[in-house]
Amino acid sequence: MSLLNDEQSTNLLHSQAHIWNHIFSFINSMSLKCAIQLQIPDIINRHGAPMLLSELVEALSINKERAHFVYRLMRILVHSGFFIKQSICTTGDHKEEEREGYLLAPASRFLLKEEPLSISPFLLAMLDPILMDPWQHLSKWFQNDDVNPFHTAHGRNLWDFAGHDPNLNQFFNEAMGSDARLVTSLVLKHSTNVFERLNSIVDVGGGTGTVAKAIAEAFPDMTCISFDLPHVVDGLVGSKNLSFLGGDMFESIPKADAVLVKWILHDWSDEECIKILMQCKEAIPSKENGGKVIIIDMVLKNGEGDKELLETQLFFDMLMLTLTTGRERSEKNWAKLFVDAGFSDYKITPILGLRSLIEVYP
Ligand SMILES: C[S@@+](CC[C@H](N)C(=O)[O-])C[C@H]1O[C@@H](n2cnc3c(N)ncnc32)[C@H](O)[C@@H]1O
Repeated sequence: MSLLNDEQSTNLLHSQAHIWNHIFSFINSMSLKCAIQLQIPDIINRHGAPMLLSELVEALSINKERAHFVYRLMRILVHSGFFIKQSICTTGDHKEEEREGYLLAPASRFLLKEEPLSISPFLLAMLDPILMDPWQHLSKWFQNDDVNPFHTAHGRNLWDFAGHDPNLNQFFNEAMGSDARLVTSLVLKHSTNVFERLNSIVDVGGGTGTVAKAIAEAFPDMTCISFDLPHVVDGLVGSKNLSFLGGDMFESIPKADAVLVKWILHDWSDEECIKILMQCKEAIPSKENGGKVIIIDMVLKNGEGDKELLETQLFFDMLMLTLTTGRERSEKNWAKLFVDAGFSDYKITPILGLRSLIEVYP
């Protein structure tokens, strides 16, 4: 075997560390999922002060013979920025690690069960085996002619599966509902002008109606429809100015001044998006009469800016490839879709972090 020189050795070890880090990236998400399932953020939050490891172990609903493993789970979650360790002044004869207590890091607030803007339902859904299995079939899908890796794994598409599996239907709708609460709270605070002067709106693919409900409450004179597949809206009850309607957006969309499509178009290929957008155009009045489509989705940054944000957008793009027929799009991709679907103009407002609000005019 030939001996490596210094530079080759350094390269080899750097490469090994880089590859190992990527092999085990999933440990970050699975450790966080475990913490949420054990309700660690809620327990630490309820404690109200830095929580000793021994106090945390006592409060956890676990086999107490596993107690000494909790430190290792917490250590990686401190490392990944979900908890903070803070010194506690104690007079007793504690071991070294017991003189420090755990606190929530800022991001963990949004993992609390009671937090109205909690992201936990989304995390639990994305890391559920039904949505994770397709990743095991990604390379096989590149070699077969299935519509997507989800289909290779489960033999049907996501929406069809959700229509037949009440468990998937429920956790998926809860995940979307949690994101919808977060987005609505921002949009209704910072962009109410988007909805002003509208007499009616239809939220297409509106899930269980979180967004439409909030708009209906904020604008009591506006008629709001939450439109989705029948298995999603069956049994949901509206209010004075909110109604639920089951249907297929590829066939027709209820008429309104504006159509809202939040996290819909990224689920579909360009050809499918053009069909959906053409149905949207049929449903709204002309630009002069106030018609518009309001899209909430990502606009890919094309390599500029924060590395973590860009990587997250690329994660979403791969997620769409794996679970749906869709993709994340750059402004250029969006502009082409709008022209191809017969729209005349658009305005992008990047008010939602990784996502933007896009108004599209007929
Ligand atoms: C990613 S979810 C987004 C839900 C919601 N807009 C939100 O962001 O919280 C996509 C939604 O599209 C709905 N959907 C899928 N195919 C549809 C179709 N052909 N017609 C109407 N809705 C559909 C799904 O049932 C699901 O609720």
